[in-house]
Amino acid sequence: YWSVDSNVDRKKDYPQIVEAADFLKNEELVAFPTETVYGLGASALSDAAVSKIFAAKGRPADNPLIVHISSVEQLELLTENIPETAVLLMNKFWPGPLTLILNKKTNAVSSLVTAGLNTVAVRMPDHPVALSLIEAAEVPVAAPSANKSGKPSPTSASHVLDDLAGLIGGVVDGGPTGVGVESTVIDCTAEVPVILRPGGVSKEEIKEVIGNVEQDPALIGSKAAPKSPGMKYRHYAPVAPLFLTDGNQEWIQGLIDQKRSSGLKVGILAPRESASFYKADAVAVCGSRRDLGSVAQSLYQALRSFDEKNLDLIYAEVYPVKGVGAAIMNRLEKAAAHRRITQEK
Ligand code: TXA
Ligand code: MG
Repeated sequence: YWSVDSNVDRKKDYPQIVEAADFLKNEELVAFPTETVYGLGASALSDAAVSKIFAAKGRPADNPLIVHISSVEQLELLTENIPETAVLLMNKFWPGPLTLILNKKTNAVSSLVTAGLNTVAVRMPDHPVALSLIEAAEVPVAAPSANKSGKPSPTSASHVLDDLAGLIGGVVDGGPTGVGVESTVIDCTAEVPVILRPGGVSKEEIKEVIGNVEQDPALIGSKAAPKSPGMKYRHYAPVAPLFLTDGNQEWIQGLIDQKRSSGLKVGILAPRESASFYKADAVAVCGSRRDLGSVAQSLYQALRSFDEKNLDLIYAEVYPVKGVGAAIMNRLEKAAAHRRITQEK
């Protein structure tokens, strides 16, 4: 466990960073903060190291990992035939919460990283600790979110330890993450780039840069098979079953009262504006409806908080599917396994 002040500028010779980087060089796992969520890092060049990621997380082997880089020079090692649209996106959004799917250079990284695909997912995170660590490790770093498979992604070092203590080399604690949901994943090998996972960079922002972008139709409100392997698994879910509730507060309180009167313990996930209105066994607050970024930031922390409350079910308010709202609703839909109760008008 290494604690690093995330205010420090990129310092690859910071003693804690050097020590953590040595673990990566020695094919061990190190969890570290990024601007989105904590990642569980391993040298992307080592089969031995990467296989430890799948073991620690309980991650299916057919779900490929994102390779994290600290400079665009590292791209040459990993990819070839980078399309013009990808260059535009990198210039605009890197470092930042955007992952590009590109053509993989043969034998560039461990084939475990790409789950046998001929493409590779790459991103440059916008976090001084992440960038320093990758620089000090002197290798591209494969890193999924540092949670047990199926659980909400970790937005603090303590979430990482809750899930993975004893299973990893260590965690670099750089404080809570900023964006709160994972990076947007965009397939740049298609003629028109396709968003495979909505995330920290919105579709609207991407459109402004490259004009035309498509979205995997499986992403929102659909059970069709998604193109990104990871999106087919149940994910982001608290222990108790979660239901999206699309209606006003009085109606939602009615649902809660009904369940509680039959002896069930009920949780509700709501933004600051309505949280104080609810009477339930657990009320988790996630940001403010007026700022969807603040909802994204505290979403996973709020979902995790339900697990210690021993609930029978959880209700969650819904949000507009625009800007980062697309990522919020994608994660909530998955956490709810698409269960939704809608108020009759
Ligand atoms: O914000 C993030 O992206 C965080 C931080 C740690 O960087 N990482 C993260 O990784 O969320 P993970 O493994 O939880 O999600 C990676 C997603 C999965 O849905 C995976 O299937 C997809 O990216 N992916 C990776 N390589 C791919 C490829 N070659 N083609 C299609 N999808 C790919
Ligand atoms: Mg994940």
